[in-house]
Amino acid sequence: MSMDDVTLDPSCPSEWDEARRAGHELVERVLRRIRDLPNAPCWQAPPPEALGALGQSVPREGLGIEQALAIAARAIEPYGTGNLNPRFWGWVIGAGNVAGMYGSWLASAMNANLFAGNQGPVHLELQVIEWFRSWLGFPSGSSGLLVDGGSMGNLLGLAVARHWATGGAVKTEGPEACRGLRIYGSVATHSSVVKAAQLLGLGTSSVRLLPTLPDGSADVTLLEAAIKADRRLGLRPFCVIGSAGTVGIGAIDPLERLRALADDHRLWFHVDGAIGALGWLAPPLRPRLAGMDTAHSLSFDLHKWGQVPYDAACLLVRDGTLHRAAFQEEATYLRALHGGLTPAHAHAFHSYSPLLSKVDRALKIWMTFMALGTDRIAAVFIRSTEQARWLATRVESHPDLELCAPVALNIVCLRYRGGVRDAGPLDDINRGILVALQDSGFCVMSPYELDGRFVLRVCLSNHRTRRADLEALVAEVASVGRQLSRRAAAAAR
Ligand SMILES: Cc1ncc(COP(=O)(O)O)c(C=O)c1O
Repeated sequence: MSMDDVTLDPSCPSEWDEARRAGHELVERVLRRIRDLPNAPCWQAPPPEALGALGQSVPREGLGIEQALAIAARAIEPYGTGNLNPRFWGWVIGAGNVAGMYGSWLASAMNANLFAGNQGPVHLELQVIEWFRSWLGFPSGSSGLLVDGGSMGNLLGLAVARHWATGGAVKTEGPEACRGLRIYGSVATHSSVVKAAQLLGLGTSSVRLLPTLPDGSADVTLLEAAIKADRRLGLRPFCVIGSAGTVGIGAIDPLERLRALADDHRLWFHVDGAIGALGWLAPPLRPRLAGMDTAHSLSFDLHKWGQVPYDAACLLVRDGTLHRAAFQEEATYLRALHGGLTPAHAHAFHSYSPLLSKVDRALKIWMTFMALGTDRIAAVFIRSTEQARWLATRVESHPDLELCAPVALNIVCLRYRGGVRDAGPLDDINRGILVALQDSGFCVMSPYELDGRFVLRVCLSNHRTRRADLEALVAEVASVGRQLSRRAAAAAR
């Protein structure tokens, strides 16, 4: 074989045949798996044999596509997060969808780099951002960027806010320009905001998180008092954060009032819409999010409630010029020309984030929305909130269960109560229920704590969940709770 013959593509008719067979088999298997999800365990831990298969050393001579895929089918595919299953309700994780999956496959096949240029995927990402800009009520002149998650959206939104607050000086002077800068939000603000402050050189102490109102939403009066007090101390309040759905219980902050607060005190208003922002697309839910469209920056996820396959999120910035100013850097090797792939008129995504190489997330979003349509997607949002309300009512009326927080959106926090009085054993029993239901493959909920009590958290951001799944959940939590409390009582005797 000459060096000229070296290729990583199939290199002879039999390899092309193998690639074709393997691809068709993969599509068939994946579709079968998705069709049969309701009868499959929600989650199962990878057994030792599977982990052993992953531990094989890499062969000098490749196994070929079919054999490698056969190992993946045995050792990886059955042991994912479990979030495709109708009974996955842990954390805030979406279930994906077939159209989006094909978008993902096609994007991977194109293998485009969206750093800049006159290329379809760049135009497509601009189009997808334009949808979100207009749907979510942002003005023209706003900019946007698809990112890997809400955490990155928050980080980049706050980076633009920091640029604004320092008049751009942070770019040249670094942390010196940021001395005394302060961010305000409620204690329910997502930890990614704190991480963002750390990464931006502002430090954890720059984030002031104030207690919430009883419904879990931000207390604007407390935020204002903190802002005024910090100003008196010579500090520099510069940003207020609102959550369109808090991670714990899905509370929605009073976004209109937060924007007014920002205006009164000349602050940047960033909304973390990772959980709930897309609810705006469902007319019955939109009034609950009033004011989200007034944010200076809005970060929201597509891979959660939006059901786009991982990873996909979006950042919108009201002032596109400022967004670009925060990240634009001159580099001779990136200069645009008068034509060709990178002409001067083409969009340069690398001027809107720290990243140069950029993966195509637009195709799977575009496929999801184009193939399914906004009505069908909005119907999922409405149904999730109805399911949350139904579950809350069912829990409230159940003699052995307790609803632990108000339900504003699609998250329900509950716990088994039975006849157990003491907090310690009750926490242990509920921890036991959560783990037992995960281990048995019945469902995945995630842990949470409210007022120092352990609670079971059910996040309904799964388009495959049906009422019967929730009915089964209520019965199962009560039944496992009774078993565990009997066991705890016997052990105490
Ligand atoms: C309110 C909120 N903000 C931000 C994030 C982070 O989003 P991601 O996991 O997409 O980075 C989450 C994740 O659950 C969240 O609930």
